[in-house]
Amino acid sequence: MVEIIRHDLIIVGSGLAGLRAAVEAALISKGKLDIAVISKLQINRSHSVCAEGGTAAVLYTNEGDNFWAHAWDTVKGSDFLADQDAVVRFVFDCPKEIYRLEHWGMPWSRREDGRIAQRRFGGHSFPRATFAADKTGFFEMQTLWGVLQRFDNVTFYPEWFVTSLLIVDGEYRGMTAIDMYNGTFHVFTSKAAIWATGGGLRMYGFTTYSLSATGDGFAIPYRAGLPLQDMEFVQFHPTGLIPSGILITEGARGEGGYLRNNKGERFMEKYAPKFMELAPRDIVSRAMMTEINEGRGFEGPYGLKYVHLDLTHLGREKILDRLPLVREVAIKFAGIDPIDEPLPVRPVAHYPMGGIPTDIDAATEAKGLWAAGEVTSVSIHGANRLGTNSTAECLVFGKYAGANAANYAMKKDDFPEVPLDLVEKEEKRIFDGLMKRESGEDPYTIRRELRVVMDTYFHVFRDEKGMTEGLKKIRELKEKFSKARVADKSSFYNSDLFYTLELDHMLISSEVIAVGALARKESRGAHFRTDYPYRDDKNFLKHTLVYYSEEGPIIKYKPVKILFWKPVERKY
Ligand code: FUM
Repeated sequence: MVEIIRHDLIIVGSGLAGLRAAVEAALISKGKLDIAVISKLQINRSHSVCAEGGTAAVLYTNEGDNFWAHAWDTVKGSDFLADQDAVVRFVFDCPKEIYRLEHWGMPWSRREDGRIAQRRFGGHSFPRATFAADKTGFFEMQTLWGVLQRFDNVTFYPEWFVTSLLIVDGEYRGMTAIDMYNGTFHVFTSKAAIWATGGGLRMYGFTTYSLSATGDGFAIPYRAGLPLQDMEFVQFHPTGLIPSGILITEGARGEGGYLRNNKGERFMEKYAPKFMELAPRDIVSRAMMTEINEGRGFEGPYGLKYVHLDLTHLGREKILDRLPLVREVAIKFAGIDPIDEPLPVRPVAHYPMGGIPTDIDAATEAKGLWAAGEVTSVSIHGANRLGTNSTAECLVFGKYAGANAANYAMKKDDFPEVPLDLVEKEEKRIFDGLMKRESGEDPYTIRRELRVVMDTYFHVFRDEKGMTEGLKKIRELKEKFSKARVADKSSFYNSDLFYTLELDHMLISSEVIAVGALARKESRGAHFRTDYPYRDDKNFLKHTLVYYSEEGPIIKYKPVKILFWKPVERKY
């Protein structure tokens, strides 16, 4: 008889959204709930620590900014695919989160007058990026972690790999997980759960993501019956450092950095004469790829052509004060000091706009399950996210998820019934399937091939022919994966097994990206099709929903919530 581990509330994921949810749940339940946080990583290793440039909020309305301007910039930035009820709730709540963190000890960078400093970010018409040098995510995580030390009713399960969600008749019932330390398989249940795993685009080769950001949080609920929304919209951040892809924060342009082609021209004046380098990311990335494709880039290693990000005019003092991580990373990973020389950069896979759909209270379609952060599509980002709206989203909707799930759990007397047939099926899938296979395909080869497919066919510019070829290749790789073997058969820290499970998740997410992108025969935000170069509001002002089936993904659509702003042409 399998032992079931019970907690009143389980939070999966310990990044910004997960920790913010945990803090809120711990605060409002006043010790009455037994709360657990499960993560496949050590707690402060979540990818949120890599967030650099800032967190969006309107702080100084007396300086011309206001909530409605933030909402409008976000909706326009989203190419009108954002749900406007979610955007409005979001912008009004952002400043509260900034001040809450301030009170909890967050070391925000300051202005000369001692108030919290803010800088410009792409697509924002006012300086709204609230930051701690260029290590914002790291300090936010440390602050939340510090707050959690006050509570003795929060149990952490670091390095536990959740493999499945148990959802029956539209109701959350629990989950299965492997203790990575000793390879044992376990079943959890709780009165309520929060899915805050983060997203991830490690199926791309040139990406800003940590190795761990493999989109498990998309594939697991999808396989359990929840839809994935708007996954075709993949954000390419303009400035990935050559050759690693490590993020060079947009804060570098927010502080005044320029983009230049091989003629030394600030080419953004052709593409976005008003916003220049601080146009939204979809526009800047397309401009950079156009310059590169038309021969105005530089040749780089591994075929990675690039343009220059020039910070030399900012001066040593500003770079040391505001962009110390950019400098450290550039010196260590490119051998270039940005005080003296421009940096080689090109668009890099950075953020999936889509995810598990939730309502504005962070509730998913499954009763008893909430979700927050990058793994969701609430949807405030629509077809293109503005920089710094992501860490802000984790805080705002992490708080709603924490509060609503905790209130639900406090009112519930009983734990849900765990479907043991699903538990048994999952255990067999992993331990009789993957682990017992003695020979078969090599997962590392499949993983390498997948990266090439995604980098080639689902990049900044897309078309029918390429994407059809890409989808065919993804399906061939999925077929190969069905015969993959885990070479290491041991139990303790079997990273071979976890890489293989992650690969499965990346293949699943890649197929969903591909089918959504092929079906959307228009260009909107980050999804730019050279064969359909215009936005088509008549046919495609709608969210894509992709559902799992044994026979392959099923596509449905749902309307966008347009409350205040009708779509107009985007000009910057
Ligand atoms: O450029 C950056 O610092 C990234 C920020 C973001 O993706 O929001």
